[in-house]
Amino acid sequence: TGYITLDEGYVNTGSTTSAITYLDGEAGILRYRGYPIEELAANCDFVEVMYLLIYGELPTEEQLTNFRNSIRRHTMLHEDMRSFYDGFPRDAHPMAILSSVVSALSTFYQDSLDPHDPQQVEVSIHRLLAKLPTIAAYSYKKSFGQPFIYPQNDLSYCENFLQMMFAVPSEPFHVDPDFVDALNLLLIVHADHEQNCSTSTVRMVGSADANLFASISAGISALWGPLHGGANEAVVNMLEEIIENGGDVDKYVELAKDKQSKVRLMGFGHRVYKNFDPRATIIKKACDRLLDKLDIKDPLFDVAQKLEHAALNDEYFVQRKLYPNVDFYSGVIYRAIGIPVQMFTVLFAMGRLPGWIAHWKEMHGSKTKRICRPRQVYTGETKREFIPIEKR
Ligand code: CMC
Repeated sequence: TGYITLDEGYVNTGSTTSAITYLDGEAGILRYRGYPIEELAANCDFVEVMYLLIYGELPTEEQLTNFRNSIRRHTMLHEDMRSFYDGFPRDAHPMAILSSVVSALSTFYQDSLDPHDPQQVEVSIHRLLAKLPTIAAYSYKKSFGQPFIYPQNDLSYCENFLQMMFAVPSEPFHVDPDFVDALNLLLIVHADHEQNCSTSTVRMVGSADANLFASISAGISALWGPLHGGANEAVVNMLEEIIENGGDVDKYVELAKDKQSKVRLMGFGHRVYKNFDPRATIIKKACDRLLDKLDIKDPLFDVAQKLEHAALNDEYFVQRKLYPNVDFYSGVIYRAIGIPVQMFTVLFAMGRLPGWIAHWKEMHGSKTKRICRPRQVYTGETKREFIPIEKR
């Protein structure tokens, strides 16, 4: 069978070439299509970043207007899809709803499933970008029995999402511009991160020529895991637990160092970043700004800072180069906006969607595309004599 290189967890294995995101883990550099994440986060609208990732260039004003208008045309969900929500239990996790409903898009839009037809691909991209916030907000409304709020197309992408989340038909609703800015920034810093677990999943599924909806649904499932996007939810649960137990961060650090405990410091460590995670730096600053401006005192933020300090001064974390990652402070911002903890990873998915799409599209554009089919090193039994059932 030839010589097989074993690399569990793909630590050193490049699965593809890519021109989308540049990441230097030692220097803490992250760039989308060559543009530093810090500049994009400070100056862009999330929709501009979507365009940049998917089409490779920052849009001109005209391109951006056309792109926005096209997305707006697709924000509504087919009325028949609403009945799915009746079937899900009230306490269903919104990530489960998100991946199921995204997968179901391929049953409603059978006219845009061919990965080799550029026009079909284009319309499925716009449908996904437009509908994901609607699907997400409906899953939240479902969780406590409020009526769904239809998308409102004169609002921006982020405003529309917040309105669908928090408006109720009986009262006028005002979207707080500080919340819109904070959400916009969070979506931008989550928008791509090269060959992470969910993106590799999207590419893997897409490599079999599965349609875009099916591929993205698989990516959402991968993202749900607590070692990946689910960490933002796990961080807040961890911080709450620390507060409930008296706020002793040093004790928690000790617990996270003890391999027997199976406890990890959630929101800490990264496969690639070994110095700092530039996204965490941006988010922590934004967090500071928002809480300060709104005069919010969140005990979670205080505990998070103390925990960070304790870990960064501990030999175990220093030696292993474990630093706060993107998920460490994002939850504090989500909480300030009023987003409940089980929706955190859904927000991550909304941010990561253009990245997933860009990778799926890049793969299909590659002349060297092949189905992803890793090999293995077999460790099972060698050939055995078959034993008839009555003799076993
Ligand atoms: N707390 C305690 N110890 C840790 C942690 C942590 N958060 N992360 C890594 N370690 C230890 C690990 O036990 C190992 O120790 P040793 O060398 O003694 O066996 C060493 O550090 C290397 O860890 P690893 O598990 O081999 O590293 P990895 O690259 O396979 O895993 C990771 C990366 C992000 C899954 C891991 O650091 C982790 O579980 N972090 C907590 C979960 C988290 O915050 N995930 C979000 C990642 S960033 C956003 C995203 O990807 O979605």
